[in-house]
Amino acid sequence: MKFFVDTAEIDAIAELNELGIVDGVTTNPSLIKKSGRDILEVTREIADLVDGPVSAEVVATEADAMIAEGRKLATIAENIAIKLPLTWDGLKACKTLSSEGHMINVTLCFSANQALLAAKAGATFISPFIGRLDDINLDGMQLIADIRQIYDNYGFETEILAASIRTVNHVSEAARIGADVMTAPPEVIRKLAQHPLTDKGLDQFLKDAEAAGIRIV
Ligand code: G3P
Repeated sequence: MKFFVDTAEIDAIAELNELGIVDGVTTNPSLIKKSGRDILEVTREIADLVDGPVSAEVVATEADAMIAEGRKLATIAENIAIKLPLTWDGLKACKTLSSEGHMINVTLCFSANQALLAAKAGATFISPFIGRLDDINLDGMQLIADIRQIYDNYGFETEILAASIRTVNHVSEAARIGADVMTAPPEVIRKLAQHPLTDKGLDQFLKDAEAAGIRIV
């Protein structure tokens, strides 16, 4: 499973990148707003830092304008994935921009039929939003499973990018189902390493090491 970081915070990306676990980055207008940075400037910095795809989202709603914005975002760096919303116009823009050879991340996906359309329109990534479905008492993880089955039935190569991940369980469940990629905020990725039994066990080992006078270097 590829790990993307869902943030526009350079320091957080750099810290995780040092571990070699960052396969890409996803941003959206809300994350750009939170960073307080200019979209073109911060996206360029992120794309310099990370080798994998960096998703940058258009803000136009009409296909021609989305295409123009997408082409501009793609000039930032070779690893830009143009992020388009799953609307009819977004699908039109997806078809045009993917035919030009750009990576496309179709976002705000909340149904299997939407994911099917995005794959047919040439999306590189489809981003089903798990947490936002859970928020309204629907089953976000079931959507990941449905899309996995549909894409496998027909051999679609569009990668399933599990998004709107809020918990560590979302990560392991999406991995179990076979999502190709997950994108999560840095704090969720850091929590993946945590387990209370690890802390408890280490505490005991350190006490015993001290009592035994173990020194290694
Ligand atoms: O990047 C899109 C997505 O991951 C948003 O997550 O938590 O705002 O629903 P959230």
